[in-house]
Amino acid sequence: MPAPRRPISFPQDRLLVEQDAGAVADRVAERLIQALTAADRRPLGLATGRTMEPVYAALRRRLDDLDPVVRRRLLEGWSSFNLDDYIGLAPDHPASFQAAMGRNLGEPLGLSPAQLRLPDGTAADPEAEARRYADALAAAGGLGLQLLGLGENGHVGFNEPPCGPGAITRCVRLSAATRRQNAGAFGGDPERVPERAITVGLAEILAARSLMLVVTGASKASILRRVLEGPPREALPASWLLDHPHLLVIADRAAMGQGG
Ligand code: GLP
Repeated sequence: MPAPRRPISFPQDRLLVEQDAGAVADRVAERLIQALTAADRRPLGLATGRTMEPVYAALRRRLDDLDPVVRRRLLEGWSSFNLDDYIGLAPDHPASFQAAMGRNLGEPLGLSPAQLRLPDGTAADPEAEARRYADALAAAGGLGLQLLGLGENGHVGFNEPPCGPGAITRCVRLSAATRRQNAGAFGGDPERVPERAITVGLAEILAARSLMLVVTGASKASILRRVLEGPPREALPASWLLDHPHLLVIADRAAMGQGG
């Protein structure tokens, strides 16, 4: 019989473990609503990926439960910046993060592109677009709450390993591991996943007021464990989040390796 695994030594006040992905999504949505209603709010930092699909569904449900006047006021004040998008997909490609955010939030909530911002992966000059996006983020005062998923190789946004905490918003080359991880949205073929992307840098992520790392499913258990055990290092970009004073990790039992 294998030896029981040692519990992860991670400060309990920075970690919330929920029963399953649905419960995680609801907890995250609750905190997003709080961030959207905070008096001193800054733009939200948003993420895409399979982890976020139930989160945005839960957010839509919670918004629909609000008093209509409160809901309208909240949506009128909406301002967000997404972490990343692929370079070179057609604007209407269903696997672009632009399209995913439109499906998840933009269309159902009636948010304008000026409110729900993403880097434009179709720009003729992606390097200039990355600089423009970084400037827009800075001009908006930086990020308030940044929502983050976790790549199976330890990336956040598309900050691929190795990556230090000073990396700024830029164009990146995606690793073979990430192209395999995200191949599902491209008919299962990693070769069809774009080779490059624009990502918000770890520097801007770490400058957010607070961070929420959301991790669900048994396939993330081993990488989450490595991240939480630290120490922060370039081989695991997500591990730099541990240095942030307001990091909250929200995971389900499967991602914590707790099985069943
Ligand atoms: C993707 C995105 C990240 C996302 C992460 C996890 O490649 N660039 O922003 O959070 O990897 O994705 P998933 O939730 O699909 O596992």
